[in-house]
Amino acid sequence: MLNKKKAPPDPKQSKILSPKNGLDNFRLGFGMSPKCPAVYLKTFGCQMNIRDSEFVTGLLLDDGFRMVDSPEAADVIIFNSCSVRKHAEERLFGNICDLAGLKKKRPGLIIGLMGCTAQNYKDEALTKAPMLDFVCGTGNEKDLPQLVGDILKDRCRIVAADKVNEKKPEPMPEYREGTFKAYVAIGEGCDNFCSYCIVPYVRGRERSRRAEDIIKEVKDLAVRGFKEITLLGQNVNSYKLTANRSPLTAKTSDFVRLLEQINSIKGIERIRFMTSHPKDASVELFKAMRDLDKVCEHLHLPLQSGSDRILNKMSRGYTQKKYLELAGDYKKTLPEGSLTTDILVGFPSETEKDFKATVMVMEKVGFDSAFTFKYSPRPPARSCALKDDVKSEVKEKRLKTIIDIQCKISEVRNRALVGKTLEVLVDGHGGRDPHKLTGRTRTNKTAIFSGDGKLTGRSVNVKIGSVTPYALLGRMA
Ligand code: SAH
Ligand code: SF4
Ligand code: F3S
Repeated sequence: MLNKKKAPPDPKQSKILSPKNGLDNFRLGFGMSPKCPAVYLKTFGCQMNIRDSEFVTGLLLDDGFRMVDSPEAADVIIFNSCSVRKHAEERLFGNICDLAGLKKKRPGLIIGLMGCTAQNYKDEALTKAPMLDFVCGTGNEKDLPQLVGDILKDRCRIVAADKVNEKKPEPMPEYREGTFKAYVAIGEGCDNFCSYCIVPYVRGRERSRRAEDIIKEVKDLAVRGFKEITLLGQNVNSYKLTANRSPLTAKTSDFVRLLEQINSIKGIERIRFMTSHPKDASVELFKAMRDLDKVCEHLHLPLQSGSDRILNKMSRGYTQKKYLELAGDYKKTLPEGSLTTDILVGFPSETEKDFKATVMVMEKVGFDSAFTFKYSPRPPARSCALKDDVKSEVKEKRLKTIIDIQCKISEVRNRALVGKTLEVLVDGHGGRDPHKLTGRTRTNKTAIFSGDGKLTGRSVNVKIGSVTPYALLGRMA
């Protein structure tokens, strides 16, 4: 049974489409095909959301819906949303509101919100965006096809956001967007509650997927010809093989055991994972990355800040010293490996001295690349109790400073690769120069080179001739 909450239908719509004969009206009045309704799904946010959109697409296809790639061609438009920054959310609501014209022209059009913003606002989303017909929370996604079916039939508005801690059903639908690279979620939710972060509230408590299910999924992907898998979790290093494993003993080890098992699956060539939390990552992980042949030599280890005072206020559970030691251990264990990070500037009370500590760590570590963000308060995250007192111009200036610094560091890191021959898994044409191929090295750097589109999905050797901060340019060796 779908656990749903029906909100009163929009009076204008209910006049046209009463629950009694809604489906007939839908079919006759608006020229749509309810037996095979067309769905347009737009995804915002992180890899988790990309994977969830794929999961939901699979469910919809299995249920007789068809997917289209433009809102104009759709009977149902769904936004899979992200709430991690204020700006991301504003952009999302802007996108939904842009559909007002289309909805006016075609009142039978169904518009829905799923994902983190749906979970964040629940009923309130219907007020924020009155053209929404449904809100489907992060744990309710498996009910989404039924929910859309109910709306097609009854012309009601539905809010289903009561299952934030639920697991996805196993086995998952077979549908995949790609043919040789796939995301595999190893868990959901987050228990870290970094003070600035909304994720634990919208994704629920951390829960690990059963290793048997993960292994089965990867084996099935390998049989279908997939070569690269990326294991996803908010904190992969706290993956637990059994539900009652203590977080203290589970640290890294269980994740390493999982990596070992996946490494032995025939057909898979590359294993990636993200994200690792510095408080749980360890030399044991780095050694596994070194020793397991399929595990790629790339670690994403978010720093956030280099200031102990700020790290403490962020509840990150490590110090600058601990982070530097960890980064040093990584580089010692995997001298050719790449290290990337996330940096958050302008956290409440961040002074110039705190900011300089971040810059110092960036320079000392020498990250290969960094995702950089300006802090924005995300209720109900705990940092909202602190005054957002770093002026917007200061945040902007600090952001620009670290982008510029990182750009220089990235170029230096890439320059060290000139003359080397690296293994690249070809993604195909589609970079800035459509005549060139792009692909990724094991260290997750973008390589650009000339070649035949038929090489897409294959591994080739590329000799690096020159670099930019963002890419390696070369020719096939
Ligand atoms: N679980 C991952 C990623 C979480 S979200 C991790 O722990 O790293 C991705 C990034 O968004 C974070 O690393 C952080 O840098 C940024 N972020 C999270 N909350 C934010 C906020 N309130 N304002 C700005 N950036 C934020
Ligand atoms: Fe957010 Fe921290 Fe969890 Fe990452 S580890 S999702 S930053 S609470
Ligand atoms: Fe990801 Fe954004 Fe949700 S970063 S987990 S889609 S809030």
